[in-house]
Amino acid sequence: MDPPRYTTSPSLRVRTKSLNQLKKCTEVAAESELHLCPSVMSEDTRKMLPPTSETVMTKPFPIRGERAITDVSAPHVIAMVGLPARGKTFISKKLTRYLNWIGIGTRVFNLGEYRRHATSAYKSHEFFRPDNEEAMAIRNRCATQALADVCRWLHSGQGSVAVFDATNSTIDRRKLIYDIVVRENNFKLFFVESICDDPQIIEQNIKEVKVSSPDYANMNTDLVVRDFLQRIEHYEERYQPLNENQEPHLSFMKIFNTGKTVVVYNNEGHVQSRIVYYLMNIHITPRTIYLTRHGESEHNLKGLIGGDSDLSDRGWKYADALAAYIDQQSISGLRVWTSWMKRSVQTVAHLKAPQERWKALNEIDAGNCEEMSYAEIQQKFPEEFKARDQNKFAYRYPRGESYEDLVARLEPVIMELERQGNVLVVSHQAVLRCLFAYFLDKSADELPYLYVPLHTIIKLTPVAYGCKVEHIKLPIDAVNTHRPKPTSPGEVGKLEADHI
Ligand code: SIN
Repeated sequence: MDPPRYTTSPSLRVRTKSLNQLKKCTEVAAESELHLCPSVMSEDTRKMLPPTSETVMTKPFPIRGERAITDVSAPHVIAMVGLPARGKTFISKKLTRYLNWIGIGTRVFNLGEYRRHATSAYKSHEFFRPDNEEAMAIRNRCATQALADVCRWLHSGQGSVAVFDATNSTIDRRKLIYDIVVRENNFKLFFVESICDDPQIIEQNIKEVKVSSPDYANMNTDLVVRDFLQRIEHYEERYQPLNENQEPHLSFMKIFNTGKTVVVYNNEGHVQSRIVYYLMNIHITPRTIYLTRHGESEHNLKGLIGGDSDLSDRGWKYADALAAYIDQQSISGLRVWTSWMKRSVQTVAHLKAPQERWKALNEIDAGNCEEMSYAEIQQKFPEEFKARDQNKFAYRYPRGESYEDLVARLEPVIMELERQGNVLVVSHQAVLRCLFAYFLDKSADELPYLYVPLHTIIKLTPVAYGCKVEHIKLPIDAVNTHRPKPTSPGEVGKLEADHI
């Protein structure tokens, strides 16, 4: 029998089997039945028919292949809008990190970098005067060049969302973007405007990020603030905020004063909705997130993965030490989140802060391999064991989960973490790898190998465009459960214990 034919899409395979092909493989007796209604055919003939029609659609899970990129119907350009120092770069970078984490390949194109590349050292705000024609020509050329790169990158298939981080503060500039992105390239376009009239936030932004900009290398903070405020004034002379009456064909969202009010206009679907939802949940109030695994468990000691065992004696000591450490820090408004598993609930037994349980924080489900040691899995399921090493992120345990599944399960946790103040998350190795990868912008390849040891608190403090990370190891011994990427797939390697 001829093999089924597939269309080119690896994620949505369409098998088409013609009646002729079907006839070739049917018995002569069955052939005469083929034109009958399936309900009156014999069982044997009916089995040979595709389920309902001639087309069978399968959407295989990404068990061993490439990461299944979340489907976006058309590539998107997200174009920022707003005066300087309104958090456009912060939003661009954070949004890009989030979209990459959920599997939508995204990249930022920052116009300031194109301008710096096209000019010699920055001298002063004079460059941004609207009547500086020479500079304006350079700026326009840089914008066209950046947009050409955006389109080339999207056409290359390396990603599906490009974030154009620039002021884009006039109707003319937005028309240019629309013409290139939508008319010429047929991509989707969504503008995100950040509007802020709080002078304190603006000054804080200048001091936090502009002072370290390459434009102001070795310049003192007061001079930087003065020059930058003048730069803003030049933009203000020509600034035209997005307006649905003047630009009714555009899709956009406007964020006022870091999210106090949000307006959305002409939302064009799934990707834009996710962006709106995400940007509505982020905030810039300083806070700290603490991540820790549960204390060492009985299963950790035996080298078994998964299960729902109790803490070991050392695990209970960690629970005491964690409570003492957190108490000592006097963290204002701290909330404690744990999974539903005994070992993580026991770890917070002595903590005084309000606690919440999240099923979404439960450890990766190892399915048929739950409560086995690695050596046992290798012996019983050698092919599975090897397959996991070949693509640990996408590999799904039989009847269990993959890291990719885990990221999807954890999205609501991330969204809620973004909304919160100080939080301590007590969870499990695989889960914390996913959360850690989100905050540290780690790729899907690196994620399953991130080092998250037992009896260690990971302290994450948001700074400028990223996160400061501190590892606080509490002085209670525990087994080492980290299994680095093996040089050859399928080797157990040197392990002490649990290594999901
Ligand atoms: C810059 O040159 O730094 C930014 C240009 C712009 O977005 O207007």
